[in-house]
Amino acid sequence: MIFLNKTNVSRFQKEYVEKCKSLLPDMYPGCRPTYRIQNEGCQMNSLQTESIAAIMDEMGYQKIESEEADAVIYNTCTVRENANQKIFGHLGHLKSIKRSRPGMKIILFGCMMQEPHVVEKIRKVYPFVDLVFGTHNLHKFPELFYTVLTTNDQIIDIWQESNEIVEGMPASRKYPFKTGVNVMFGCNNFCSYCIVPYVRGREKSREPQAIIEEIKSLVADGVKEVMLLGQNVNSYGKTLENPISFAQLLGQIEEIEGLKRIRFMTSHPKDLSDELIEAMAKSKKICHHLHLPLQSGSSRILKEMNRRYDKEKYLGLVEKIRTAIPDISLTTDIIVGFPGETEEDFLETLEVVEKSDYDTAFTFIYSKRTGTPAASMPDQVPEDVVKERFGRLLALVQENGRKASSRFTGTVKEILVEEESKEKGILTGRTEHNLLVHFPGDVSLIGKFVNVSLDTCKGFYYFGHMV
Ligand code: 5AD
Ligand code: SF4
Repeated sequence: MIFLNKTNVSRFQKEYVEKCKSLLPDMYPGCRPTYRIQNEGCQMNSLQTESIAAIMDEMGYQKIESEEADAVIYNTCTVRENANQKIFGHLGHLKSIKRSRPGMKIILFGCMMQEPHVVEKIRKVYPFVDLVFGTHNLHKFPELFYTVLTTNDQIIDIWQESNEIVEGMPASRKYPFKTGVNVMFGCNNFCSYCIVPYVRGREKSREPQAIIEEIKSLVADGVKEVMLLGQNVNSYGKTLENPISFAQLLGQIEEIEGLKRIRFMTSHPKDLSDELIEAMAKSKKICHHLHLPLQSGSSRILKEMNRRYDKEKYLGLVEKIRTAIPDISLTTDIIVGFPGETEEDFLETLEVVEKSDYDTAFTFIYSKRTGTPAASMPDQVPEDVVKERFGRLLALVQENGRKASSRFTGTVKEILVEEESKEKGILTGRTEHNLLVHFPGDVSLIGKFVNVSLDTCKGFYYFGHMV
C-alpha cells in the first residue's frame, strides 16, 4: 500500500468564475447562454457533475436538456467499455450539431480522460472538442473554461496524480433534502479487472473536521440524509496524519443534530470491521443497508481478481452482519465472465447469491480494460458463454430480490418522500433499507419523513398508504 504525505488542500478558482461571467454579455448579447451537462457512471461522478453545474450556473449559464446548447459537458466513466463507446457515439452526433453552431463549446472530463489512448484519439479524431480535463484538476475548471472562451485552441489538461483534496467546491444538488458527501477519493486495491485505481489515483481521505463541517452546513441548508461516498469507505482515515477509522467517523457524524439518516458506499468485504458492524447495529441514524460487492463466488476467481477474501470469508461476513442487524438489506455487485471463469466457478457465484439473500444485485459482464492485469490473462471467456451465464444469474438475482424485498409486507416504515411519481397524486420515497415505496399523498410532503404501511410488494417497490 502506498501512503501519501500529508494531503494538500486547494480551493477552486472563484476569480475565474467572475472573469468568465464578465465575458458573457458581449459573447451572447441580449440572451442567456445555455449549457447541457450529462453524467456517466457512479455517484462520485454525479457529485463532481453537480459541482461543474453549479459553476456554470454561477457564471450565468442556463441549464437545458437539449444538446443544442452553447456548452455541452460530459462527465465520463470508463469502468466498462460500453461507457466509452457511448461517449464516442455522442461525439459523432455533437460534431454535426457543431457544424451548424460553430460557437458551441464541447467539454469532456472525468475518468475516461485519464486514459492516454482516449486523449490521443480525441486529439486526432475529434479536434472540435474544446476542453478535456481529468479527475485530479476539477478545481481548475473556471480557469480552463476561461481559456476556452478566449481562444480557439483545443485545451487538454490532464494531471497524472495529485495528493490534493479540493475543499469548498460549490454544488447544485438534485434534491434539497438528501445528498452525497465524499469522504475519500481514489483506490489502492487494484482489483485485477478494475481501471479505477489508474484513473482516480491513490486513496486520499478528507479530514474528518472538513466532512463534519460540510455535513453541518448541509443540514443547516435542509439536508436530512447523507450518503458518504468512497471507493472503499472501510479503509477511510488510514492515510490521515491522525488516522481514524470509518466507524469513528460515523460516530462523529451521528452526533450532528438535525441529520436523520446516514448511508455509505462502497464497502470492501476485506476491510469490513467488527467495529463498523457494531457501529451500524447500535446507531439510530445509520440506515440498515449495506452494499457489499461480491464480484464472484469462486475463491479461485476471487484470488485471480485480487479481492483478498474468499467465498467462506464472504459468507461468514454475511452471517455476522445478519446476526448483528437481522433486518439488514444487503446489495452487491457481481461480474460474470472474468477470464478463466468455468461453469463450476459460476455455479459457486449462484450458490453465494442463493445464500446471501440480496435485496438487489448489480450484475455486470466482464469488460476488458486496457492496462489492467486481467486484460492480458489467458482464457478470456467466449461471449456466448458469458451471455448465457449472465441470463441465468439475472433470473436468480431477480427472483431472490423479489423474495427478499417482500419481507416487509404489512409493516409500517418511515419514508423520506423524494418526489411525485409519474402518476399525479402518487408520491415516491425510500425506506432506510433503500426500498422504493409509492403511496397517495400531497406534494407538500416532499422532503419530509412520513410513516407508510407497506401494503403490496410489486417486485422491487411497494405500494402503500400513509398511517
Ligand atoms: N468489468 C465489469 N465490471 C466491472 N466493475 C469494475 N470493473 C469492471 C470490469 N472491468 C464493476 C464491479 C464494481 C462495479 C462498480 O463495477 O462490480 O464493483
Ligand atoms: Fe475497483 Fe476494486 Fe477499487 Fe472497487 S475496490 S474501485 S473494484 S479496484
